[in-house]
Parts: sequence; C-alpha cells; structure tokens
Amino acid sequence: MTMSTPEVTKEQATQPPVKKRTFSGIQPTGNIHLGNYLGAIRNWVETQDQYENVFCIVDLHAITLPIDPKELHENTRRLAAIYLASGLDLQHCKLFVQSHVHQHTELEWILNCFTPMGWLNRMTQFKTKAGDSIDSVSNGLYSYPVLMACDILLYQTHYVPVGDDQRQHIELTRDLAQRFNSLYNQQIFTIPQAQIRDVGARIMSLEDPTKKMSKSDPNPSAYITMLDDPKTIKKKIGRATTDSLRLVKFDNERPGITNLLGIYQSLTRASQEEIEAEFEGKGYGDFKAVLIDRLVDTLRPIQQRYNEILSDRGELERLLKQGADDVRPLAERTVQRAKEVVGLG
Ligand code: AMP
Ligand code: TRP
Repeated sequence: MTMSTPEVTKEQATQPPVKKRTFSGIQPTGNIHLGNYLGAIRNWVETQDQYENVFCIVDLHAITLPIDPKELHENTRRLAAIYLASGLDLQHCKLFVQSHVHQHTELEWILNCFTPMGWLNRMTQFKTKAGDSIDSVSNGLYSYPVLMACDILLYQTHYVPVGDDQRQHIELTRDLAQRFNSLYNQQIFTIPQAQIRDVGARIMSLEDPTKKMSKSDPNPSAYITMLDDPKTIKKKIGRATTDSLRLVKFDNERPGITNLLGIYQSLTRASQEEIEAEFEGKGYGDFKAVLIDRLVDTLRPIQQRYNEILSDRGELERLLKQGADDVRPLAERTVQRAKEVVGLG
C-alpha cells in the first residue's frame, strides 16, 4: 500500500506512529496569485514534514464554469509545476490530478444523494459565482461543494489547509461526514478540520481592497500572479489603492494600506508592531518599495524552478501518474466502504 509510512526507525519509535493526514487543492483555472500562495500553498510547504499530505489539482472543479479544453489541460500541468516549484517535496506529499482518480466522481454521486438541497442553497460561493445567471449555470457549479467534500473524505483527511474563503465548504464537508456516519452508525469518514492561518488567509484585491484577490478578476492589476516579473510587480504595487492619510499603520478603516501591510506581514512573519515601527515616519512610497523588493525576492526562485520543471514535460507527466497511482487504493477503500453500507453492488 503506497500511502503507508516507511519502516519505523528507532528514533521514530518514540514518536506518535502515524502522522495525521492533510488534503488540499487548487483549481487550474487561471493565474495562480499571491492569495493562493500565502493563503494555501506556502502553508502546505511549511508544515509538510509534520503530516502525510495529499495535494490535488482539482480539474473536475474547473469545468463547473466554461473553460477552453486546451487551456484546462495546460493549466493543470502548470499548476503542478507551481506546487513543486514552491517547495512541495514528494518525499512528504502525494501530488495528483483529480480527474485521474475516478473515485472522486463515484463517491460524489453517492454523497449527492445524501446532501439536502437546503444545505447547498446556503453556500455563498455558489451565489457569488452564479450571480444573476442562477437559472443558466450548471448543476455542477451547484454541487461543487459535494465534490469538494468527496476530495477530502476519500482520503480520511484530518486537516484541510486553505484560505478563509473555503471555511463554509469545510463546514459542509464536516456536516455531510457526520450525517453519513451517524445514519449508518459507523465511522466511514474521518471528520476533517479546516486549517486557516491568522495572517495571509484573506489577501484582498489591489484595486478594490474590500474584495478578495481572485483569479477571475477581469482586471489583472487587481492581483499579483506567482509568475509576474519584477517590472509588473513594481507597476501593480505602485498603483495599488491606498488613501490620502499617508500613515503606514494597520487600520481596518483603511483597507488598502492594511492589505498591503498584511501581505508584507505574511512575507516577513514580523508582528504588526514591528512593521509599524519599521515604517514609522515613512510614507507609502518607501513602504511600497520595500514590499516590492520582498515580493520579487520571494517569487524569483520559485519562477526559476517553475521554468526548469516545465522544461521536462515527460518527467512531470510521470510524477502525476505516479501520484494518482499512489493515492487510488486509499480512495478506493473509502468508496467501497461507502458503497457497502449504502447497499450498492
Ligand atoms: P482557488 O483559487 O479558489 O482555487 O483557491 C485555492 C486556494 O487559495 C484555497 O485554499 C483558497 O482558500 C486560497 N485563496 C484563494 N484566494 C485567496 C485570497 N485572496 N487570500 C487567501 N487565500 C486565498
Ligand atoms: N474549492 C476550493 C477552492 O476553490 C478548491 C478545492 C477543491 C479544495 N477541492 C478541495 C480545497 C478540497 C481543499 C480541499 O479554493
């Protein structure tokens, strides 16, 4: 079984025997931005040696809204390269593409039949994404959170490291798992917990800091992508919305500067007090220049590795196939248990 831990050494014998499992994923739908990095990917990298990790490129979620097939295929590979370039280490993580493991869709049908419509009607992400087109968007967009629940539950996940916007979906996942377990009076699914950091979990748009930074923002100046070059970063941060007070301090009444300070805090891990002291008596221009340097320094090595990884497509395909082969048995075990208790087969 490929998900099992390696042979136990003497030193490990004194440690808890089995690491807890984490699962998370990102949709290959466009430019991976600073919010995705600081809210999700970087946290996965930082704690990867503490857990048994499963990371997924959720391409099935990406077809809930119209997307060009070639673009989807290419974005999937590029996102895998971003994961690896950001520092995910295959010694600690399984990395795979959601549609390569058909158990995700198989469990989804079953769980769909156990999901009350009322629960889905409450999902705010659906309402935002559907907007005024509620009658014409797909059923897939509506049941998106059920597929996400299956992603998590298939691997008996303990922790789901995500940004703040996924809180509601993880609550739904917990509710569904609890409902299913109690209906059959068996522990079919592990009840997962969201892992959301205090800093970096909600990076806001550079143009309108009352909205979250989003891949689907029609205005590219609203976000910094992980692949932006130094000139672009300089331009975007230079233009980022602030205010006329010119005081470099955290202040919820001034969301523009507070968002930029939050990005800086997340990058430097300094406290709010330390950052305010660093820029005491300085203006927005001084602060933005330091922030730009920090961003460029953070992203440059990731971009270099990204290009290297993409230059060997054969190896990337091999890694993704291996990842799917490794996680499939675990997913299959969960599906079989769910089918059994429901009476299928
Ligand atoms: P998505 O781009 O919706 O596939 O999101 C992938 C991951 O990035 C999820 O864990 C999100 O919670 C996280 N994320 C997306 N946007 C932001 C943001 N603006 N700030 C922090 N985290 C984010
Ligand atoms: N819905 C998540 C997002 O848009 C992506 C996602 C799909 C996910 N399945 C998941 C995140 C399972 C964590 C765990 O960001």
